[in-house]
Amino acid sequence: MTIHSSVLELIGRTPMVQAQRLDAGRCDLFLKLESANPGGSIKDRIGLSMIEAAERAGRIRPGDTLVEGTAGNTGIGLALVAQQKGYKLILVVPDKMSREKIFNLKAMGAEVVLTRSDVAKGHPDYYQDLAERLARETPGAYFINQFGNPDNPLAHEQTTGPEILEQMDGRVDAIVFGCGSSGTMTGLSRYFAQASPDTQFILADPVGSILTQYINEGTLSTKSASWMVEGIGEDFLPSISDFSRVAKAYAIPDKESFLTARELLAKEGILGGSSTGTLVAARAALLPRADRT
Ligand SMILES: Cc1ncc(COP(=O)(O)O)c(C=O)c1O
Repeated sequence: MTIHSSVLELIGRTPMVQAQRLDAGRCDLFLKLESANPGGSIKDRIGLSMIEAAERAGRIRPGDTLVEGTAGNTGIGLALVAQQKGYKLILVVPDKMSREKIFNLKAMGAEVVLTRSDVAKGHPDYYQDLAERLARETPGAYFINQFGNPDNPLAHEQTTGPEILEQMDGRVDAIVFGCGSSGTMTGLSRYFAQASPDTQFILADPVGSILTQYINEGTLSTKSASWMVEGIGEDFLPSISDFSRVAKAYAIPDKESFLTARELLAKEGILGGSSTGTLVAARAALLPRADRT
């Protein structure tokens, strides 16, 4: 047991748990508990990687103002790192996000600007467009831009991917993931393309997102609907996204995602959010376990 000098040292190296009571058909189902990160989600990883990369490049230094548009969890990851390193942080958050997250962000010292959830990219009130504008209009501010920042997928290529393969002793038939900024998918895809090219990538997507149709039919709808699940699903293709390794996508209705999150807690004792519910609901798509010799 070691003593850590900062909470930032607790980011990553999250546990993997095999599901015991959830029905996964013929599959062995493993859950990587990104909720064990100090901010409670996978986004702590990119909070750290994007800020430290900007520091290394000489673009920011403590005392500067950082600006980002976020569904909430990137904000918590950034707030954690900003607070520990001494940055000011302005976050633009869509108003559908849970109150707890917003209170949490404010309590960590971030300035939260709430904006509309019912508008799409290109609208001036869309959270990413508004964040970009605020960054432009705030003297000396640095726009983090998780949707176009290569240090977002890099965090997953360098940490999440290697952790998964090591925990699974190199044997992973398929990974079910969600896509928001696409950093997780793009980073894991890059890592697994080299380290375990036979691993299949399955997208779990909320109904209303344009991504399922894009993966399964190759067409891009210009119309997205809104959904209640937080953090995943998209109404555009982020510039950092690489969908080339994604074999199949499944659209999960909100109700099923929320009920599955409850089932996960009831059966496995694991408290996950709505996006975790979407991923676990999509387990029906998992491939039969490959014969292992
Ligand atoms: C809990 C949670 N899971 C998954 C995602 C999506 O991950 P990514 O942005 O890497 O695509 C997000 C994004 O906000 C999230 O908050």
